[in-house]
Amino acid sequence: MGVVVPFEDKHPDKHASIKRLVSLVASDMERVNAMILSRTGSEVTMIPEVANHLISSGGKRLRPMLTLATAGLSGYEGDGHVKLAASVEFMHTATLLHDDVVDESDMRRGKIAARIKWGNEASVLVGDFLLGQAFRMMVEVGSLRALDILSAAATVIAEGEVMQLAAAKNTETTEDEYLAVIRGKTAELFAAACEVGPVIANRPKAEQAACRSYGMNLGIAFQLVDDALDYGGKAATLGKNVGDDFREGKITLPVVLSFRRGTDEERAFWKRVLEQGDITDADLEQAIAIMRRHRALEDTVERARHYGAMARDALALFPKSPMKQALLDAVDFCIARAY
Ligand code: IPE
Ligand code: IPE
Ligand code: MG
Ligand code: MG
Repeated sequence: MGVVVPFEDKHPDKHASIKRLVSLVASDMERVNAMILSRTGSEVTMIPEVANHLISSGGKRLRPMLTLATAGLSGYEGDGHVKLAASVEFMHTATLLHDDVVDESDMRRGKIAARIKWGNEASVLVGDFLLGQAFRMMVEVGSLRALDILSAAATVIAEGEVMQLAAAKNTETTEDEYLAVIRGKTAELFAAACEVGPVIANRPKAEQAACRSYGMNLGIAFQLVDDALDYGGKAATLGKNVGDDFREGKITLPVVLSFRRGTDEERAFWKRVLEQGDITDADLEQAIAIMRRHRALEDTVERARHYGAMARDALALFPKSPMKQALLDAVDFCIARAY
């Protein structure tokens, strides 16, 4: 079901905005990738099989790049940022394994989801393994504060996912409730990934808070764009099925806006498809047509731009530097994904 959107897109120019970040952290990122590979090992062969299926499919590695970049921005000179970045990516990978079970998704990173190949049970358990490995690496780094930030993030992510579960199929969901969900399930990890950089560099509280705010707002923008793309932003580059949110009855901002702005007939449509889960491909087309009528996708991206601007402004207290510019550019990358 649904359209499989190719992972490699045909618009390389939109990647220009992430190039600076990618190149500035490239050598550290090689160490992170080596660390990631070395920590997926287990005598229980199904663990590296499942983990490497997902890890070798790529992914943008956005969150670990943010940890490396904020450590660099903070003038950090030790080794701890590599393990923390690997931990952050492991936490992310674990949530993806769990998320695809919760969402009953079939595709991830342009490949068949691990849960389809090995089953839901294996996906959940390997996710748990990776989460455990993430915490072991954090302990090795030895920053109690970083451990505190990342372990708190792990609980908030789970809270966000459960909150979303409770809101599913409920067309009364408000924009505020939706925002609380995405802050938890997505933005919190971005925030934590960015905050631990200045933390391990022992930078002042104001800089820690600035990086955290940058990450939080970037994460909100990122998920807003992701939710617009789930209904077919023009040249989506997701590597996962489009329309998944709709089929699951997930109430994302495009739906919240369309429902609020809709006619009685349109609201009846949303209630039928989301609450009853009785969904066809024609329904998805109808949903997208209604969204277009109410500018719901454009306005979702407009909201993302607003949070993106907040992310940029959060970095104001850092002096001009290539790393700062790379982080500013990364905001454009997250928004430009929508085109
Ligand atoms: C996917 O995140 C989960 C969301 C928060 C939407 P990414 O889009 O960063 O996933 P990968 O790591 O690049 O595959
Ligand atoms: C992303 O959830 C956040 C987490 C993985 C916790 P989604 O369900 O919205 O993301 P995709 O669309 O599966 O990547
Ligand atoms: Mg999902
Ligand atoms: Mg989900």
